Amino acid sequence: MNERRAAQQFIETSKLLGVDFVPVAVKAVEKAETPKAVTKSASGKSAGEKQALLDALHKRHDQECPHCTAASSHTQTVFGEGNPDARLMFVGEAPGAEEDKVGRPFVGRSGQLLEKIIVAMGLSREEVFIANVLKSRPPNNATPTSDEASKCGPYLLEQIKIIEPEVIVTLGKPAAQLVLESKEAMGRMRGHWYEYGGVPVMPTFHPAYLLRAYTPENRAMVWSDMQLVMERLGMGSSSG
Ligand code: URA
Repeated sequence: MNERRAAQQFIETSKLLGVDFVPVAVKAVEKAETPKAVTKSASGKSAGEKQALLDALHKRHDQECPHCTAASSHTQTVFGEGNPDARLMFVGEAPGAEEDKVGRPFVGRSGQLLEKIIVAMGLSREEVFIANVLKSRPPNNATPTSDEASKCGPYLLEQIKIIEPEVIVTLGKPAAQLVLESKEAMGRMRGHWYEYGGVPVMPTFHPAYLLRAYTPENRAMVWSDMQLVMERLGMGSSSG
C-alpha cells in the first residue's frame, strides 16, 4: 500500500473507532483522492456482460419474486447497486424508508456508516456491490422472516453468481443466515471465515446494530473483521 493510501486509511479508521486525534503529518493528506478501482474478471465475463445479466435478473425479479410481488408496504424494489465485477460484495437485510424512497440500498444512516467503513478500507462505494436479502421494504422495518428470505433470497444468490465476488461480507443475522444457511448467533459467527459456493464469506455486525450500540468494542470488532477481508483481498491491511 502506498503512503498516501495508508495515511488515508489511518484517518478513516481512527474516525471509525472514535479516535479524534489525527497526527498533523497524516492530516495533510486527508483530502487525498480515493484509490483506484479494484476489479477482476474471473469467469471471463466482462463488467458489461455482468451488468446485462444483472439487469435481466432485476427485471425478472420484479416480475416474479413471490415475496416482492405480493408485498404491499413498499413503493419500489431496491435491487442493489455497484460494480458488477466487484471483488467485494456486501449483503444487508432489507431496504428501509430512505432506500424505499430513492430505490438504492444503504442510503440512510446505516448506509452512511457502511460507506465510512468502505472508505476506511481504502475503497469507494462504486468499487463494491451492495445488495440485500429482501428487495422490498418490510412493513415497519421488521426483520425479514425466514419465509420472506426463502422467497426473495434466491435472487440475491443469483446476483452473487453473476458478480462472482472474491469475498462476501454479510451484515447482520438475516444475511448470514441466508447465505450460510446457519442459525448461529452473530457474536459467534463474526470474525470467522465461512464459504458460499467457493466464495469466502465474512459475517459481521449490521451497521444499524453498530449505530444502536456504538461502543469502541463493537467498532473495533467490525474493523477487525474488515481487516481480515482486506488481507484476504491482498489489500495490504496492517492488522496490528
Ligand atoms: N439496512 C439494510 O440492511 N439494507 C439497506 O439497504 C438499508 C438499511
